[in-house]
Amino acid sequence: MEFKVTIADPLEHPCRALVVGCFEGEVRTPLLSRLDESLGGCLTGFYERREFTGKLNKTRLVHTLGRLPAEQILFVGLGKQDELTRDKVRQAAGTAMQSLRPSGVRSISTLLHMTDGGTNEMLQAAVEGALLGGYSFNRYKTKDEDPTSIEEVTLLFPDTAAASRGESVVNEAQTLCNAALLARDLVSQPANVATPAYLAENALEMCGKYGITCRIMERDDMERNAMEALLAVAKGSQQPPKFIILEYLPAGKEISPTVLVGKGVTFDSGGISLKPREGMEKMKSDMAGAAAVLGTLQAVAALKLPLNLVGLIPTAENLPGGNAYKPGDLIRSMSGQTIEVVNTDAEGRLLLCDALHYAQRYDPAAIIDVATLTGACVVALGDVVTGLMGNDESLKSAIKKAGDASGERVWELPLWEEYGEIMKSDIADMKNAGGPGAGTISAGGFLQQFVGKVPWVHLDIAGTAWEEKGRPYLPKGATGVGVRLLVEYLRELA
Ligand code: BES
Ligand code: MN
Ligand code: ZN
Repeated sequence: MEFKVTIADPLEHPCRALVVGCFEGEVRTPLLSRLDESLGGCLTGFYERREFTGKLNKTRLVHTLGRLPAEQILFVGLGKQDELTRDKVRQAAGTAMQSLRPSGVRSISTLLHMTDGGTNEMLQAAVEGALLGGYSFNRYKTKDEDPTSIEEVTLLFPDTAAASRGESVVNEAQTLCNAALLARDLVSQPANVATPAYLAENALEMCGKYGITCRIMERDDMERNAMEALLAVAKGSQQPPKFIILEYLPAGKEISPTVLVGKGVTFDSGGISLKPREGMEKMKSDMAGAAAVLGTLQAVAALKLPLNLVGLIPTAENLPGGNAYKPGDLIRSMSGQTIEVVNTDAEGRLLLCDALHYAQRYDPAAIIDVATLTGACVVALGDVVTGLMGNDESLKSAIKKAGDASGERVWELPLWEEYGEIMKSDIADMKNAGGPGAGTISAGGFLQQFVGKVPWVHLDIAGTAWEEKGRPYLPKGATGVGVRLLVEYLRELA
């Protein structure tokens, strides 16, 4: 999708479709009054008859029949004027894209960003909503049955000053969203395509384009590094595991980097502790954490943020092959801590624990891991919000703030000492799974054993990585969650 910035009066701007935001119950804004007048009172009529009243995400498409240079106008509800938020603008923009798709229009113009006096934040939100809401993954459709996608969006501005300010905001929002869409593409790929080797190749390719250093550790490198936990998970599959290391270090050697760690299980069958068959196909998305880390590095490098950032992606496939690791097995993790495997389906924490330990060699300022870690998180929080745990108040609150700003919200769960009991093992330092209670927290507590004293946050995206039904700017499927959240956090940090 291309974005264009144009200086134009919306009443004199020819286009196939013009998107205009409307507040609930309010038709008397200068722009709406003028449009209404040109359209012979059509909008006032909608409001009076309550056909369209500006409620959030409600739309009304009007053909102008030559009364205006714009062929059609799509009115989109923004809700009450004094309750407008960035996320509502994102939603309205996403709604507009999705509702215009069946009309076959390939290029549209929009005024959604000007609702709040055209602040940079609202403009960014309007671009994000359009890009994220207009996304679809149709790489494997051989027949043209899908409605066409919108390829060009023109943003209208009143004057040169606004337009040139707008241009840079639009460019940055596009850079950011392209990274989120990279994450969506990777997660949407089926697991027979997106193997650990595929993730490694994609990482190398992306890093080549954006000037990031990328290194791939192979199985024998992992053996030399005694990453037994990561290796154990990979044993049941023919696909060799990879440990992907991305380094973006423009800020100099003296500055400690932030290290991001992403779970990259390209398919999670559960292993010998096999998952039930219903919905197992969704477990191709068990590398959404890895995708979020790749996307974040791409965005940070493309935006040239002046900070040091490292991405670590342990990636493997969890299958019940003849050589698979088994319940009861004993693993010595890279950190030296021993783990009794009681459930091979609790594989994510095993991959992650070696990566978290490996992260220590960077003497990191902070570690943030992102993982589709527990079904319990979906039970607790659904698909609305990402679970957050951590050991550092200021890091946690910075991430929460970034969550609110980006619309990728997070909700904290406690890591109190009492929960530590759950993972006690009779024969090892810990076991890899506890009982039925507090599954998300016990997983977070497990990871905590491997981060030492470094400020650390764990993000459980099991619920938020995949959208079941489709929302205004989250079409059905992969959401790319984590990229916009982390880039927002890192932008504030820089
Ligand atoms: N990848 C799953 C978690 C998951 C479940 C993600 C549903 C997305 C949707 C993870 O590896 C897993 O299987 N976790 C187990 C842990 C348990 C065995 C302690 C779970 O949640 O059941
Ligand atoms: Mn699992
Ligand atoms: Zn998993």
